[in-house]
Amino acid sequence: MAAARQPVPRGSQPATREEIIARVREMYRRHPFPPARRKHTYRHHVAYVRRFLDELGIDPRGREFGDFACGTGLMMLDYAQAFPDTTFVGYDLSAVSVERANATFAAEGVSNAHAQVQDIMQMGDRDRFAYIVSWGTIHHLPDPAEGVAILARALLPGGILRTGIYGYYGNWERRVQQEMLRTLAGDGDPLDFDRRIALVREWAGADRNFKNYYTAPPVDLHDDDWVVDEFLHVWENHLKLADIVTWLEANGLQVLRLTDYYDAEIALDVAEHSTSPPFVARVKGLSFVEQCAVIEMIVRPYWISLLARKHG
Ligand SMILES: C[S@@+](CC[C@H](N)C(=O)[O-])C[C@H]1O[C@@H](n2cnc3c(N)ncnc32)[C@H](O)[C@@H]1O
Repeated sequence: MAAARQPVPRGSQPATREEIIARVREMYRRHPFPPARRKHTYRHHVAYVRRFLDELGIDPRGREFGDFACGTGLMMLDYAQAFPDTTFVGYDLSAVSVERANATFAAEGVSNAHAQVQDIMQMGDRDRFAYIVSWGTIHHLPDPAEGVAILARALLPGGILRTGIYGYYGNWERRVQQEMLRTLAGDGDPLDFDRRIALVREWAGADRNFKNYYTAPPVDLHDDDWVVDEFLHVWENHLKLADIVTWLEANGLQVLRLTDYYDAEIALDVAEHSTSPPFVARVKGLSFVEQCAVIEMIVRPYWISLLARKHG
């Protein structure tokens, strides 16, 4: 008798860390990110970081900055052009993305940035970088807690880490959309992207219930690479603000600031988010990590970016 089909197929889950890495690498080999046709600039992000570093009295000139994982290098390009006296090192799992990043730097005449193929989980740098950005990657690592420890280790004492991950509550709609697609696609090869992309278009392209304003920025449904990254990812952990704050603190970093995808600051003070003085007083009696958990439940940002500084 044929096995009963699960009501909500989970896909064949990779069993080991090596299988996860292999699957993620293959996904970004076929569908590098960000896509070749630029959807938006990271110049605002870079200007925000510059102001932040200025406020802390950190001079970027002559220092090494890291982008873990840089993908096709468009964010790194904006950084390198804005900080011409800083050297940028980009790591990524995908050789296709790294090749494209270096070709873009060459085409733009940028000589202070270089990308190389490197699995972050195998990265051995210690006390090297004055600043590291890791945008949209920690949630795709096989062990995000260990990934944060690796990033922290690579920072110089006093160095700054900027992380960017999906929010937990703010991503509910997108997770439902991913589950919808798993239900349509059924079990089988999660790397069978052509069939799955066609399913996304069949549904999202024409159904009045599909909403494209949950994601930041909104997905271009005509762009295969974007569709795969957003709806058909082969490995995505659903992390909470409290998780990442816990891991940063455990690795000797002090959390200084929280923003959304577009650098709008989200106060790490519950009094800014509530009109109930007794509630605020109660939350303020909790640990910082618990306060962060409450703030995420109130604000429910789609994207969580933390700026944290390594002690020392
Ligand atoms: C969503 S993309 C983000 C790219 C870029 N940071 C951006 O925001 O434009 C995720 C990237 O992480 C890379 N990646 C995933 N796991 C990795 C690992 N273990 N080591 C290095 N890179 C990894 C992928 O190859 C991919 O380029």
